[in-house]
Amino acid sequence: MPSIEKYLDDRIGHLKETHAFRQLKTEDNLIDFSSNDYLGLSRSTELKHLLATELDNHPHSLIGSTGSRLISGNTAYAEALEDRLAQFHKAEAGLLYNSGYDANLGFFSSIPQKGDTIILDEKIHACIIDGSRLSYANRFKFRHNDLDSLEKKLKVAKGRIFIGIESVYSMDGDSPDLLGIVTLAEKYNANIIIDEAHSAGVLGENGKGLVSSLGLEDKIFARIHTFGKAIGSHGAVILGSKNLRDYLINTSRSFIFTTAAPFHTLASIKVAYDYLNQHPELQKHLIHKIDLFKYRLRKDINLIRSNTSIQSIVITGNEEVMRAGAYLKNKGFSLGAVRSPAVAEGAERLRVCLHLYNSVEEINELAKEINQYL
Ligand SMILES: Cc1ncc(COP(=O)(O)O)c(C=O)c1O
Repeated sequence: MPSIEKYLDDRIGHLKETHAFRQLKTEDNLIDFSSNDYLGLSRSTELKHLLATELDNHPHSLIGSTGSRLISGNTAYAEALEDRLAQFHKAEAGLLYNSGYDANLGFFSSIPQKGDTIILDEKIHACIIDGSRLSYANRFKFRHNDLDSLEKKLKVAKGRIFIGIESVYSMDGDSPDLLGIVTLAEKYNANIIIDEAHSAGVLGENGKGLVSSLGLEDKIFARIHTFGKAIGSHGAVILGSKNLRDYLINTSRSFIFTTAAPFHTLASIKVAYDYLNQHPELQKHLIHKIDLFKYRLRKDINLIRSNTSIQSIVITGNEEVMRAGAYLKNKGFSLGAVRSPAVAEGAERLRVCLHLYNSVEEINELAKEINQYL
């Protein structure tokens, strides 16, 4: 048997040969069409001032949280923030997690039990797949945004049923027919869990998310809102019933066995939500930027249909998409060249993220370069 170093070396060699090798990069001076900072909150000077004031107003707060929430890391501030988030999103209760990954892992590994069934959209995020793998429940996939396919799985599901979907799919930028899924869920007595990572701050009034924009809060068992994208901070909240919150506190291992988020992170989430409340115009302005990009692209380009910040152009083949990404990088743009297996083979794509702070000139220029290259 080859040594572990030899094994790693061989695998890395294979990744390089197939143009699938990933490398970390530090910041560059490229124009940002790749980050998840859709509203520019992570770089907002106004928000930085609000955060500095919030920190000043709590001179006795600690730098670190000192422990897990159940031991020494809980604070009245964290609980007040959870209440505030629940109220904002019209939920009974909320529970903070250190990241969206942790939240999904913690939910799916602890709520569905042996004999239950988890049904996931085939394009669901990796953290939901990982959480489900840690559960003893049965697991099915249904075809992306396909209600017939979902119903087929619902018909054979056993035990309590959990449907896992996203409000905006992270690679395609599209949204599910939530009303249709709610109707099916009611017919088969299933519970819907929706990950609002890419709609938080972006969709609905004040960025309250897809569920809120459709007034379906009462029809959803759990919502996961993350703070590392449009909210400009870090962490996540699971929104649902008080029972759900209590149960998670007692059983969700990614909540229990980790140090709580520090005060300055909680403060940054709080002031970001204050900011969303004070700036109801942000979402509309973002839509203008998104529409402009779509309008400027040549109409025969293979753009995946989406009305959100995530606009993906399919360029089949890892090598081909890497070449297109390198061309645009050379022109000064940072955007994602997403290869398989991160997406299905044949669906490799340039993933463009539109932000409030992308100027009209930058958007026009990027579209012009893409039009020329393709
Ligand atoms: C749909 C979705 N859910 C969850 C996550 C994880 O959230 P976080 O980055 O806060 O861990 C991501 C991040 O990539 C995501 O795209």
